Amino acid sequence: MNDVAAKLLNRLSKAGDFLSGEELCREFCITRSAVWKHIELLRAEGYHVDAVTGRGYRLMSLTGRPVDAEVSPFLTTRRFGRKILYHGVTASTNIVAKSLASDGLPEGCVVAADSQTGGRGRMGRTWVSPSGVNLYFSLILRPELPSIRVPQLTLLVAAAIHHALSIIVPGIVPMVKWPNDILINGRKVCGVLCEMQSEPDFTHFVVVGVGINVNQSEMPPELRDSATSLFAETGSLFSRPELLASFLNNFEPLYDAWLQEDDLGFILPYLERYSLLQSKQVTVDQLKRTISGTVCGIARGGELMLDGADGQTILISSGEAHLHKENYT
Ligand code: BTN
Repeated sequence: MNDVAAKLLNRLSKAGDFLSGEELCREFCITRSAVWKHIELLRAEGYHVDAVTGRGYRLMSLTGRPVDAEVSPFLTTRRFGRKILYHGVTASTNIVAKSLASDGLPEGCVVAADSQTGGRGRMGRTWVSPSGVNLYFSLILRPELPSIRVPQLTLLVAAAIHHALSIIVPGIVPMVKWPNDILINGRKVCGVLCEMQSEPDFTHFVVVGVGINVNQSEMPPELRDSATSLFAETGSLFSRPELLASFLNNFEPLYDAWLQEDDLGFILPYLERYSLLQSKQVTVDQLKRTISGTVCGIARGGELMLDGADGQTILISSGEAHLHKENYT
């Protein structure tokens, strides 16, 4: 969508009523036929715009896509999400965002897609990304910090998503599964994939990729036991633009606070309160070893803390934690 069409959409959306062609001409410094041309563009993109002689134009319905014009009315941020680059379909928003970040796109820009053909998860997994139902987006960050601190971002993002879900979806109890999953009733509803380009003492950029199963009604058979969506859990449909904005609204102040702090200490009480693994027996698979123990917390650096068999506390900085099914509550 071009800039004028996006601004026109924003204006019509905020007005919620008829706006005369004349008013729009004046406001956007364009001719009547240019207004008409842009209204036609909006219609071609799926927006239902009424045109009534003598009254003007009225926006009848939005598309529910995570585009600038539909997200911005919900935003309270200063930087995050103020520019959203939307793709109807793309391979992976993380791949697009990494390339744009390499080209210099500033912190706070978001790449969002309606569907992905090569959505990627952690450990080389795929992220199933059907169109029209879920949220797939990547946020560009440029933290002026050594790269050793960057892995903490995954948990910070998880906390912000958890909070956004708690606000937008009443009656659910999402849980954070260290380090990057959000689950509802034992099934995964959201995953986070952070990727960075860095040198040891300098971080060029981080791309925070988030996938949230929002309105998907059917999970593919192979995911039915392990994945869910907000719709599957509640029977209600949710606004993708509002959920994206809510995440960004929650995350920006958390991120700014984290930049000022030395670690995740300030958010640990929240993370431990909603940690699915807290006080549970887990097995963590790492590349070259498997470690078992009882989870006794999350360390300030974001590591999972286990009480090992010999009574020592083990700090786990990466890996996949497995929990017995009866513990998924
Ligand atoms: C995981 O749980 O393994 C992480 C999943 C991350 C999926 C999101 S969808 C948007 C962004 N683009 C991708 O290709 N992956 C992330």
